[in-house]
Amino acid sequence: MLQSLQQLRQKKQAGEKVSVLTAYDYPSARLLDEAGVDLILVGDSLGMVVLGLPDTTGVTMEDMLHHLRAVRRGVKRAPVIGDLPFHSYDTPAEAVKNARRLMEAGADAVKLEGGTAMIAQIKAIIDEGIPFVGHIGMLPQSVREEGGYKKKGRTAEGADLLLADALAVDSAGACACVLESMMPDVAARITSAVGMSTVGIGAGRDCDGQVLVTPDLLGAFPWFRPPFAKARADLAGETSRAVSEFITDVRSPKMEG
Ligand code: KIV
Repeated sequence: MLQSLQQLRQKKQAGEKVSVLTAYDYPSARLLDEAGVDLILVGDSLGMVVLGLPDTTGVTMEDMLHHLRAVRRGVKRAPVIGDLPFHSYDTPAEAVKNARRLMEAGADAVKLEGGTAMIAQIKAIIDEGIPFVGHIGMLPQSVREEGGYKKKGRTAEGADLLLADALAVDSAGACACVLESMMPDVAARITSAVGMSTVGIGAGRDCDGQVLVTPDLLGAFPWFRPPFAKARADLAGETSRAVSEFITDVRSPKMEG
């Protein structure tokens, strides 16, 4: 696993694209792994798409550990990234302690949100020998402070700040970095400036890879789907159809079995 994480930088040089999807439980993790996805992220999007919370700020370390263990049981091949939830990395010491807990629960790498503002935490994690994935751009854990989900890099100054974040995360030694909701030209500029793999979500096609929240990909969370996330299945519709068929069958006097 460690080897395939280290190979991310080589993959970038070879121009090989990286596919990343989120998982939160055993069956979905096993299906993603068996289908051949490159990396599996146990993201704190868990809060919204599994736990029914309004955003990711209510997700706890215990939530992450519980779901990470389930994912670990389902995955044999792809490296698993564990997300550090809100307020679990306020200091470098807390970041290291909680990163270790994620690793003990089965993560192969950890991820946290922030660039230059979090560089002490990021360096502390990497100094412990824990493989690290960055996350810059629009940061969902900051949604309350920022008053909503706002696309980044719209001004020259904003773009320069994002580039500075990316360079800081890259020189700290991250193997990859999520670029979330930023102008595509800024994501492209970052991608050519860094040695780590960039994994975009709502950041255009010119990243080294793409990540999606799996329920968005599968049409399993019909109440909200970001505009950039193309649903390639309709699991919500199929679930409603199967449940209605079952209810009708149960109520029918002629039901078999
Ligand atoms: O929590 C998550 O699922 C994430 C992705 C949106 C990258 O961080």
